[in-house]
This record gives sequence, C-alpha cells and structure tokens, in this order.
Amino acid sequence: MKNYNIAVIPGDGTGPEVIAEAVKVLDAAGRKFGFDLKYTKFPWGGDHYLATGEILPDDAAETLKKFDAMLLGAIGGNKVKPGLLEKGILLRLRFELDQYINLRPVKLYPGVETPLANKTSDSIDYVVVRENSGGVYTGMGGSVAQGTPDEVACQNWVYTRKQVDRCLKFAFELAKKRHSAADPWKGLSAEDKAAGYTANLTLVGKTNVLTYVCGMWERAFNEMAKAYPMVKINYCHVDATTMWMVKNPEWFDVIVTENLMGDIITDLAAMTAGGMGVSAGGNLNPEGISMFEPIGGSAPKYTGLGVINPLAAVGAAAMMLDYLGEHEAAASIEKSIAFVTGNKLKSCAAGKMGYSTSQVGDLVVENL
Ligand code: IPM
Ligand code: MN
Repeated sequence: MKNYNIAVIPGDGTGPEVIAEAVKVLDAAGRKFGFDLKYTKFPWGGDHYLATGEILPDDAAETLKKFDAMLLGAIGGNKVKPGLLEKGILLRLRFELDQYINLRPVKLYPGVETPLANKTSDSIDYVVVRENSGGVYTGMGGSVAQGTPDEVACQNWVYTRKQVDRCLKFAFELAKKRHSAADPWKGLSAEDKAAGYTANLTLVGKTNVLTYVCGMWERAFNEMAKAYPMVKINYCHVDATTMWMVKNPEWFDVIVTENLMGDIITDLAAMTAGGMGVSAGGNLNPEGISMFEPIGGSAPKYTGLGVINPLAAVGAAAMMLDYLGEHEAAASIEKSIAFVTGNKLKSCAAGKMGYSTSQVGDLVVENL
C-alpha cells in the first residue's frame, strides 16, 4: 500500500473547519483506492503568532521539504495587521519552496450559480497557470522620504528568462495533456481542428505598454511554441482578457500569465465559477514539494459556526491526490463534488447550503 506524508497547516478562521472535511474525504478516498495518508499538523497562523510571537520558524521550509505534499487551510484574519502573515507565511513558503507555478482551475460545477448569464459548466472550464515566483512579488524596490510630500516609491517588476521559460514549459505540457480530457478541442474552431491542433494555450500580458517584461514573455512563448505544433497559441492583453473571461469564457482552455496579472484575473475567474466556496488552487514546485489550498480566505465572521463551504478545500485535496499520482481517486472526488453541487446543495454560499460544513463533507464521502 502506498503511503503519503502530508503536512497540514489548518491556519486561521474557518481554515481548520474546511481542512477537517478535506481530510475526511482524503481518508475515505484512501480506503477506497488503496493508499494511506499520514498527516502532520503545523500550528502556524494568526493565533499561533499572537500566542508565541512566531510567524514561521527559520527551518520551516527544510522541515516541509521532507513531506510528499502540503495542505493549507487559510492564513490571515482580523486579529493581526493585514499583510504580516500573508507575507510571512504564505509568500515566504511559496518562495522558499520555489513553488513557481500557481495552478488555478476555473470550473463551474453543475448546479453552481454563476453571475454570467447563459453560461453553463461546458463554457466555464479552463485552467490558469499563474507564475508564482517573480514579478512584483519578488519584492525589489524601495522608497525615500517616506511620509513627506516628496516621497518616492518604486516596486520593481522583475523576471528572468529562466523563470519565464520554466513557467511556459509547464503551461505547454499542461495544454498538451488536456487533450485527453472530456472536450479535447476546447476553444478550437473547425479550421483549427482541420489544421491539426489539439490544444489551446493563451498567453496573457500587456505587450503594448510593458514592452520589456511582457516582450520577453512573448518572445519566449513564440519560441517554445515551435516545439509544440499541436498547441494553438493565442495572445491576449490582460485588460481584454477580463472582458473575454466574462463574455466568452468558452474560448479559454489553458491560460498562462505572470504573477500579479494571474492574481487579479483568477479572482475574477473564481467568481465566474461560483466564488470562493468552490475554488481551489495548487502552489506547485514540479521538482519539489507542492502546497494545495482553497483560494478563499479565513472568513473570520463564519468561524466556528459550521456554515462555511468546505468544497474548495475538498477540491484542493483532490488536486493534491492528482499531483501525487492518485489520478483515479482525484477524479472520483471531483465527480462526487459535481454530484453534490448538482443534486444536493441549495447554494454554495456560507450558511445557505442547506447543510452544515461537516454534512457537506459527509455527502462527498457517501458519493465517492
Ligand atoms: C492569492 C492571495 C495572495 C497573493 C496574497 C494573500 C499574498 O491573494 O493567493 O491569490 O497575492 O498571491
Ligand atoms: Mn489573490
């Protein structure tokens, strides 16, 4: 029997509640598909910081590297100054573990309400590959004369060609792989199919203004495309992308973009797919350890009430299994989530599901 060692950071607010359901579903999947998961909990987060003064121990990354994967609930909340924990835990782990891909599937499950009129689960089903290690998140810059009228501030938007290439490579490989998915020709026209394309990849940038950085992305993208003749490549400015994501989401299959642009468009994307209750993501280091998380925050006002939707955390757990190679189990959890949203839940919003947090976890388990 296969064994996996999972580091769990339940975190703040509703984090522990949704993680409990994710673990419940993971264990059930393990029993059904024949693998065993061992969890080691780490207490980091707002409460731990307030109690001990420690944000993250210096050896955290070294400790975590020994695990097969990580599952994170939520970090932050209303008790600590905003930014401190986000930077001190979430961003620090992403950087120190070099989780250079942030993979964010955008999938409208059956029965889930979207604010987009006349769009169904067939039209909202794509993946955003967000670069997760560079850009303005690199943290270079500075300011002088802070607090005076002469204050000057600058925050650098930095990329190396290597960072760009490794991210693009991941995106091209993913686009190629998605060919075997349910709709292999998503976002491709009849002419594209006739031309032999089997995958569709869109680079999102702003080459008309940010010529140096986005210019490098575009050149690297076009060069790499030569090795992937089956991938139809498209380019879209980021502002136009937000428009198409609302108007024609069915055009997209795989989107690849830099860090901050990816941060912004994936919040919009998540809302089109039913919101934070159902959106999951993975911070991936394809050569190292990866961290899976529900995209939503710690939702302080719902803490302890048993009303928060755990499906995003359950989805993150499914992504984790897929990443660990347990594809069948991952697909089964996804199917069960789709069954639960399509046939059971009244709504995906906290407090309006018609079930408690833990009952929703039970429903996913029953329908595995
Ligand atoms: C996200 C979040 C983080 C980010 C914050 C909390 C630092 O918005 O995961 O998208 O900007 O990456
Ligand atoms: Mn974000």
